[in-house]
Amino acid sequence: MKILVTGCAGFIGFHLVKSLIKKKNIKIYGVDNMNSYYSIKLKKLRLSELKKNKSFKFYKFNISDFKKLESLFSKIKFDIVVNLAAQAGVRYSIINPIEYMRTNILGFSNILDLSRRFRIKKLFYASSSSVYGEQKKFPVKEENELSPKNVYSLSKKNNEEFAEIYSKQYGLKSMGIRFFTVYGEWGRPDMLMIKYMLSKTKKTIFKLNNKGNHYRDFTYIDDVIIILNKLIFSKIVKKHEVINICSNKPLKVSAILSKIDKLFGRPKILQTNRLSIETLKTHGDNNKIKSITGFKNFTDINTGLINLVNWSKKNLKKI
Ligand SMILES: NC(=O)c1ccc[n+]([C@@H]2O[C@H](COP(=O)([O-])OP(=O)(O)OC[C@H]3O[C@@H](n4cnc5c(N)ncnc54)[C@H](O)[C@@H]3O)[C@@H](O)[C@H]2O)c1
Repeated sequence: MKILVTGCAGFIGFHLVKSLIKKKNIKIYGVDNMNSYYSIKLKKLRLSELKKNKSFKFYKFNISDFKKLESLFSKIKFDIVVNLAAQAGVRYSIINPIEYMRTNILGFSNILDLSRRFRIKKLFYASSSSVYGEQKKFPVKEENELSPKNVYSLSKKNNEEFAEIYSKQYGLKSMGIRFFTVYGEWGRPDMLMIKYMLSKTKKTIFKLNNKGNHYRDFTYIDDVIIILNKLIFSKIVKKHEVINICSNKPLKVSAILSKIDKLFGRPKILQTNRLSIETLKTHGDNNKIKSITGFKNFTDINTGLINLVNWSKKNLKKI
């Protein structure tokens, strides 16, 4: 079986490829443009781990480059495509909105159309909890009305809409995965936990928005990877579906930071105002993912956090 994973040097892509290359009779092809949105050193470290395995082959290019992507699809007959390459991050979408359109809209359209033309059996792609925007009733269910608040979330909603039409019009089987604040080892330095610990390590000031009064449905990376594996190797995807991957346990940002203070130490903090483009609370319903995959035991935040802190103590100085 041949699987293409885009964004393979990224946080989730790295962990997914690491889990897939352990399996027999599977070849993994990874694409990433190794951009400088955050530490290239971290991306290179992840990649060098993956390259130790012979069943992994890496291609460095941009998914918005149709010609390069088309030539890869025609050279290798992929069975499954997992598109995780994206310009991530809500705050950066204020600074550089066009990049979200280039990668998340144009790049994704390339993936979608080539998946149709080359008759890919199943396409999985990253959506986001941020498509829900500000909601009143929690936990949010997949069928809720969406209300994106920023260019990033809008790009993900757009992906879902295109995939739905491609499924109806061309029979392309696909699944949009709405990840909810994934955390863990090898995580993203632009996201809360590692950003906070990096501030402490590098003695820089950590900007805390809204006094940490946001809530996030933190979901541990190992759980996400088990679930993705179950989805990839199941017969669940028959048309286009969207699915929440979340622990269904929202926690206040300030509470998480207090835990990190005890386990890792506290950086200097600068209080800043709430950003209107950020949603106050994410809290997803995970009944659908539990019932279709049978995965039920989400990792407790204390366990996940200890694993992340231990990794950070060893590795943050390197990135
Ligand atoms: N981590 C989370 O909590 C979370 C939450 C919601 C959604 N998501 C989505 O899941 C996916 C993976 O997230 P992640 O946390 O691993 O992010 P990440 O930024 O660590 O990984 C994305 C990777 O894609 C690569 N990339 C970006 N633009 C590219 C392009 N044009 N061509 C080729 N490669 C490109 C980057 O270099 C990076 O290595 C993204 O689509 C993200 O929007 C993540």
